[in-house]
Amino acid sequence: MTSREVIETWDREAETFDEAADHGLSDPECRAAWRDLLLEALPPAPARVADLGCGTGTLSLLLAEEGYAVTGVDFSSGMVRRAREKAGHLAVFHEGDAAAPPLAEAAFDVVLCRHVLWALPAPGDALARWVRLLTPGGRLVLVEGRWHTGGGLPAARTLELLRAAGREPGLLPMPEPVFWGREIEDERYLVVA
Ligand SMILES: C[S@@+](CC[C@H](N)C(=O)[O-])C[C@H]1O[C@@H](n2cnc3c(N)ncnc32)[C@H](O)[C@@H]1O
Repeated sequence: MTSREVIETWDREAETFDEAADHGLSDPECRAAWRDLLLEALPPAPARVADLGCGTGTLSLLLAEEGYAVTGVDFSSGMVRRAREKAGHLAVFHEGDAAAPPLAEAAFDVVLCRHVLWALPAPGDALARWVRLLTPGGRLVLVEGRWHTGGGLPAARTLELLRAAGREPGLLPMPEPVFWGREIEDERYLVVA
């Protein structure tokens, strides 16, 4: 697929994207689990968070409601429109490439990215750019997986990429069904680096 076709695919996904338990976080127990996980991984609010490949803005909204200053970036206009509908009163959203975010360098305490790094053509280059967005002492918070579909990044590969970007990663496996709305058998995890 060309990058235009990839964007159009995500545009088409935008309307129904939040139906999956971990996407929309409409179940209070699931949402609380993600909230607790992220608050544990992030510095205290009000820290500045760049949510790259923010999709419909679910995590942006969750964090903005906790007092974080969130800037979301997504290349799908459909996703950005949904994000603004949901969270535009609390967070800022830009249309742009997560691999080369249209954001100021050294301006964020956290770069957050869930389920996007794996899909980037050059993830190592993207990580190097993301590191430059961070303030001294800032951190990358990545949620990734290697799914039963065959897509995704094994944790070992993500750790390798982070070390190559000069970061020291800490891995937290996420096998608990509460995060996903069902039992899972594939590999899912959070990394702080
Ligand atoms: C699986 S969804 C994850 C959305 C959100 N991070 C979440 O966890 O709810 C992937 C998102 O990344 C976006 N995306 C994928 N590649 C991108 C890129 N190169 N630049 C910006 N957005 C991208 C898609 O448009 C889609 O919204």
